[in-house]
Amino acid sequence: MQFTLSHQAPISTDALIVPVAQGTNLDAIFSLVAEKTGVPADLIKGDFKAGAKEIHTLYFNENQQSKRIFLLGLGEAPRTIDVLNAFRSLVFKRKANLPTNLSVSFLHKNAPDNPAPWVEASVNGLLLGGYDIGLYKTDKKPEDAAPDFNIEIAVSEEHLAAASEALKRGQAFEKIHGLGLHALIAVSRGSENPPAFIVMEYKPKSDQPLKKIGLVGKGVTFDTGGLSIKPSTNMHLMKSDMGGAAAVLGTIEVAAKLQLPLHIIGVIPATENSVDALSTKPGDVIGSYQGKTIEVIDTDAEGRLILADGLTYAVRNFAPDVLIDLATLTGSCIRTLGTYAGGLFSNNDALVGQLNEAGERTGERLWRLPLWDDYNKELKSDVADLKNFSGNPAAGAITAAKFLEAFIEKHPAWAHMDIAGMAIADSEFSSQKSATGFGIRLLIDYMQSLINDAKA
Ligand code: BES
Ligand code: MN
Ligand code: ZN
Repeated sequence: MQFTLSHQAPISTDALIVPVAQGTNLDAIFSLVAEKTGVPADLIKGDFKAGAKEIHTLYFNENQQSKRIFLLGLGEAPRTIDVLNAFRSLVFKRKANLPTNLSVSFLHKNAPDNPAPWVEASVNGLLLGGYDIGLYKTDKKPEDAAPDFNIEIAVSEEHLAAASEALKRGQAFEKIHGLGLHALIAVSRGSENPPAFIVMEYKPKSDQPLKKIGLVGKGVTFDTGGLSIKPSTNMHLMKSDMGGAAAVLGTIEVAAKLQLPLHIIGVIPATENSVDALSTKPGDVIGSYQGKTIEVIDTDAEGRLILADGLTYAVRNFAPDVLIDLATLTGSCIRTLGTYAGGLFSNNDALVGQLNEAGERTGERLWRLPLWDDYNKELKSDVADLKNFSGNPAAGAITAAKFLEAFIEKHPAWAHMDIAGMAIADSEFSSQKSATGFGIRLLIDYMQSLINDAKA
């Protein structure tokens, strides 16, 4: 679906969608429609009540072409979710015979003063309406697939800038929605900035790749803690909560420059964890890409939520031989190891050996902590499949790792690195803590050792 914005009455397209809330003054709309179609306004008024998801189709001729107007009912005092659902329903029901060039008009006093939230909701709805839930079915019927629409959205000139932001947000969000990354969405709810789900793939040109390595990085671009808000003293440092994501990006960049004979996948769930009326609340139960439900005890334990989706996504879609995640995950890890080593958690002793050696060689040290199942009882929830925090600060780095383990689909060679104490550091190179790039040299060295072992 391609979207464009304009501030002119969009009449050049094949069909014009005019969303209409019930009980508003509809005269402007009815006279527009009457003028276009020649149907008397009173007649239209009698037939269309603007109920939620009501669709009224009218036809007219323009430049020898037959065109349509869809009056789309939104119900009374619609919330943005009602706007979303009305658009979603329109595309879902009519996708087989909707023309591909559509326009949506917010120019007839048929939207709030600032229509941006409705622009976002309509884009969300249009995209979701075309979402093909049977994507992986092989016996597809042609009518199941939505055509590739071109959609022009008209808003008044003064609202173009806000609408353009809303459009961007609506498009970014819906891919993530469509994929079912529910835990990432739950964390991102409190932020003005849309989440991103970055998937990267590096494949060597020549050689048959020796192994497929899946890397997952925590990309929290700022961690306020959410409604379980952090104290202000060191909060500014939480711009570094994307250190795991940075390590994944950097590793793949270096691997590509070195043309390593490995197949590398990078998955980065990226979002802010922020405070808003829409923020996920402590006590909420959320979903996940994996399907498990999660009781959110503490919204500040957000890294494990987005990593849960990233880990399952990497395993299900790429089936890597080795799965490694990096995350500035817990203060507990800093209290355990200080700023001298990253915490290492793994279900595979050989992988631990290789990563530890790479750590010693590069000076980016790791220290293994246990993953005994005894810790699982800390994550038992009464209302959901598991909870994101035990409420018990003891062994916090371990219980966080146990949480992640529940989302790796029993992958046999998984390692989790808690780099909370390592991603930024005091040094002679800056007056305050600054980024270290921890993990890149470590991972490149590890991958190089895999290559050397294969040659030997
Ligand atoms: N991003 C933090 C962890 C962190 C803390 C990184 C300090 C670097 C420096 C993480 O999202 C977090 O807030 N963890 C909480 C988890 C707790 C609420 C279960 C923590 O460690 O306190
Ligand atoms: Mn946090
Ligand atoms: Zn965090």
